[in-house]
Amino acid sequence: MSESAANEALSREVLRRRTFAIISHPDAGKTTLTEKLLLYAGALHLAGAVHARSHQRRATSDWMELEQARGISITSTMLQFEYQGVLVNLLDTPGHQDFSEDTYRTLMAVDSAVMVLDSAKGIEPQTKKLFAVCRRRGIPILTFINKMDQPGRHPFDLLHEIEQTLGMTSVPFNWPIGEGSAFQGLFDLREPRLLFFQRTAHNQRKAPMRVESFPHPSLAATLGEAYGPLQEDIALLSGAGTSFDRDRFLSGELTPVFFGSALTNFGVEPFLDAFLHLAPPPGPRASAQRIVQPTDEAFSGFVFKIQANMDPQHRDRMAFLRICSGRFEKDMMVYHNRLGRKIRMTRPHRLFGRDRETIDEAFPGDVVGLVNPGLFAIGDTLCSAGPLHFDPIPKFAPECFGRLHSPDISKHKQFQKGLRQLEEEGVMQVLLAPDQVRREPILAAVGDLQFDVVVSRLQSEYGVKATVERLPYVCARWVSGDPAAVARVYWPMDTLRLTDREGRLVVLFGSEHMLAYCVKDHPTLQFQSLEEADRAAAAG
Ligand code: G4P
Repeated sequence: MSESAANEALSREVLRRRTFAIISHPDAGKTTLTEKLLLYAGALHLAGAVHARSHQRRATSDWMELEQARGISITSTMLQFEYQGVLVNLLDTPGHQDFSEDTYRTLMAVDSAVMVLDSAKGIEPQTKKLFAVCRRRGIPILTFINKMDQPGRHPFDLLHEIEQTLGMTSVPFNWPIGEGSAFQGLFDLREPRLLFFQRTAHNQRKAPMRVESFPHPSLAATLGEAYGPLQEDIALLSGAGTSFDRDRFLSGELTPVFFGSALTNFGVEPFLDAFLHLAPPPGPRASAQRIVQPTDEAFSGFVFKIQANMDPQHRDRMAFLRICSGRFEKDMMVYHNRLGRKIRMTRPHRLFGRDRETIDEAFPGDVVGLVNPGLFAIGDTLCSAGPLHFDPIPKFAPECFGRLHSPDISKHKQFQKGLRQLEEEGVMQVLLAPDQVRREPILAAVGDLQFDVVVSRLQSEYGVKATVERLPYVCARWVSGDPAAVARVYWPMDTLRLTDREGRLVVLFGSEHMLAYCVKDHPTLQFQSLEEADRAAAAG
């Protein structure tokens, strides 16, 4: 292929890709909407399969038992499907708040997000947190207000809440016709036209959609009781006057809003169509050296997630690489910036949920799974023409601490291996007592539930029994300064001195008050958060 033909082919592939994640508070309907998007895209023939598949897998994976017992989703999955010539990469994110760090990392790898709200609950705490990450990155957000088949809040009230709570202009693209059990369809505000949906048995198949023009003479008779309220709402909407501005949408200041019911499939099809049209293809990405364009000929990407033992049949570690520019090819040699050497991209995988298949090529926006024999860490940049360092993935300060006990001395090697691998995945951080007397590791995590994950995974994947004794500290600081001054510090009772894997001094504090006291008492020392300490180390 000539150079210009190769460039054209690359541009075509970039333009036809959409890489996004769904953000929502648990129970708003993210899983259901994901499944219905797959149904409409033809990637599933009957809805219900996603749940069924996960149940089936739950039976075969110990680790999944924890998810089942807690009714939560811990592991992120990647889904790729093609619809109307567009290649969609959906990066699923765990919903439970204790796994937010994993979710944050995934949000670094997407080009847009879909925010799902429960029509009865509106914006919930986790929605706000995830929104804040999207805002920080300035990524565009489409809003899907779900569960319109149930009694909920008034649509105007929900739009108002988006504006007030999130500070984003909300522009409805459609409007519900009827509410709760009388929800029958949508008024398409863009065309304008009316879309009516019909339920199917167990909501397993696409809901047949009937399109009617607007206005039309027998509208009052067609709509019944919904006619009056819809007329009133339409009058109010035309007076509201906020119009869609693509630039404001792309910078995350404005969100197009869609209504529907993922459960009954009402509104899923118009939403998917609008998503393909509105969501941007992969865009430029900042690095320490330059702005990388997806159509740059040189390949580049970064690792945003590491996951061990995704499938009990493949007891290995998978690194998830988001491609940012150029064409990725199986067996290509790439420069690994952190290691400062070239490595071969053998056995790259495409992932669908927990299934995987080897691929020969991939393009910007795609996520490639690399079997990771300890080569990759979260945040690593890979490229064909180095040096290049993509902006670091933000780290979140640990707020929960616990001492890990393992009575099983004979399993010491497995214990250490498990601990190291879980730490590499970013599940928690391992800290050690500096005095060599108590060598039981102290775990630092963003959420409490991560301790349960550590215990459960050590047992099921490494065969090691362990327990975590929760410790009463609330924050950690990486303390540095003149070594003599650090050695002279008299640390109060309410603190615990530890070291991290790199041998840096980490002090845990029993209260914010105690931290403030120590900071004030030692003005010559630095008390840094994990992110600050890492940034300082990277700067040299
Ligand atoms: P999540 O991933 O955001 O946590 O939510 P999920 O899709 O699992 O949905 C949470 C619950 O809300 C599920 O009910 C689901 O069936 C229901 N749900 C999702 N979308 C809609 C909708 O549009 N309308 C209505 N009425 N319900 C919806 P569940 O009883 O907890 O689970 P299940 O037994 O149905 O799987």
